[in-house]
Amino acid sequence: MSSPGRWLVSILTRTVRRYLVGPEQRWVFERPVQGWTPPQVERTSLYLHVPFCRNACPYCPYTKVPYRESLVEPYTRAAIAEVDHWANAVGPAEVTSIYIGGGTPTLALEGVARVLRRVRERFRLTGDICIETNPADVEAETVQRLHDMDVRLVSLGVESFRAEHLVLLGRGYQPLVAARALSLLAGKGFASVNADLMFALPGQSAVDVTADMARAAQLGADQLTTYPLFTFPYTSVGEYLRLKTVRMPDLRIRRAHYQAISTWCAEHGFERVSVWGFKRGQAPRYSSVTRDGYLGIGPGAGSHLSDGFVLNTFDLDSWMRALYEGRTGIALRMPFAGQMSGWWWLYWRFYDTRIPLDDLEAALGRDAPKARRWLKAMGQAGLAVQNGSYLHLTESGAFWLHLAQNYFALNYVNTLWTRARLEAWPQAVAI
Ligand SMILES: C[S@@+](CC[C@H](N)C(=O)[O-])C[C@H]1O[C@@H](n2cnc3c(N)ncnc32)[C@H](O)[C@@H]1O
Repeated sequence: MSSPGRWLVSILTRTVRRYLVGPEQRWVFERPVQGWTPPQVERTSLYLHVPFCRNACPYCPYTKVPYRESLVEPYTRAAIAEVDHWANAVGPAEVTSIYIGGGTPTLALEGVARVLRRVRERFRLTGDICIETNPADVEAETVQRLHDMDVRLVSLGVESFRAEHLVLLGRGYQPLVAARALSLLAGKGFASVNADLMFALPGQSAVDVTADMARAAQLGADQLTTYPLFTFPYTSVGEYLRLKTVRMPDLRIRRAHYQAISTWCAEHGFERVSVWGFKRGQAPRYSSVTRDGYLGIGPGAGSHLSDGFVLNTFDLDSWMRALYEGRTGIALRMPFAGQMSGWWWLYWRFYDTRIPLDDLEAALGRDAPKARRWLKAMGQAGLAVQNGSYLHLTESGAFWLHLAQNYFALNYVNTLWTRARLEAWPQAVAI
């Protein structure tokens, strides 16, 4: 984006957030003050970040280090210490779901199993366990090990079944490896197997995208999650391109591919479950990000508490050292002012493409009438339709509202993560 364009988007998003969330919200992550302790938690989700990858994808924005077997044991000890830390701080909460992401969690399954055991000892686990994996890391025995750990939902980062697109993404495996991995997982007793696919890639056509979806469906995926390729400035590709802000794919191509994806799903029995996700049959919905409270474990893991967000240090060594020494791995905290927590809740309901109207007052309190006015305007503009007590985004609503959300959020994520990658314990980051 050109400089004036960037400047305009920045002013616009700041104006919108000030209007919606109010002037009292300081958009600054800071070192938690001495003596700060997390609030008690009754129910929560849990996110476990496993930062190992065999292959560093050049566009990947997440915290990771090259996989070395010798790192798994020290990582696991620190993760277990962090489970204890949370349990001591927030109490023996009910854990309603566990999401294990990365990185590639299946590179450290023995360690993950031990961390899960400790979670069961210290918390009351009542929900499902979901895990991410990479096609090059799935073997027949992986299925058994995942079942032994009671994992119910699995997500495979297929990205594409076309060799040239896998090469472009630096994925390091052949289409047949992705196909084999998906068929090893599908139909093996998991409640849901999700395949991640990417669209709006350079040189990719809408037909390529739907062909990838058809292949994943034919191989037995219960859910398809399709992401347009974002390029963060601090990734290898972003640095090479000298990007200053997050680059999104060409709007025309992104729109055309999204329409093709939505049409293909409607014609093939896949219902929309989020902006990017479509599922079929009775499989439960697979999702990593839309839960409304979670505790984060692992380097770079975030937590959403009732009084704000906290973020662990991104540096694996610093994170492990802190936990071995009985300190917290939390590097930064942004407290919530006003109805910030409620607006965050609504943000994710947009991501779900379904807004439960009856819950607005409970979530947004005094800001609920403001939210209702905006939701009504969206209905009038054809971006949403009411069905019973839910407001459902239409196909164009899902596309345009999420595009606006991307502008609103991705550059904040970029600012925060860029600093957090450079400094293990930054003093403050204004977003
Ligand atoms: C956290 S990644 C984990 C992938 C897993 N480790 C693997 O290698 O398959 C989860 C998903 O995020 C999506 N993703 C990662 N980087 C992205 C980017 N820059 N833009 C859009 N989607 C991205 C990919 O579809 C990927 O499968």
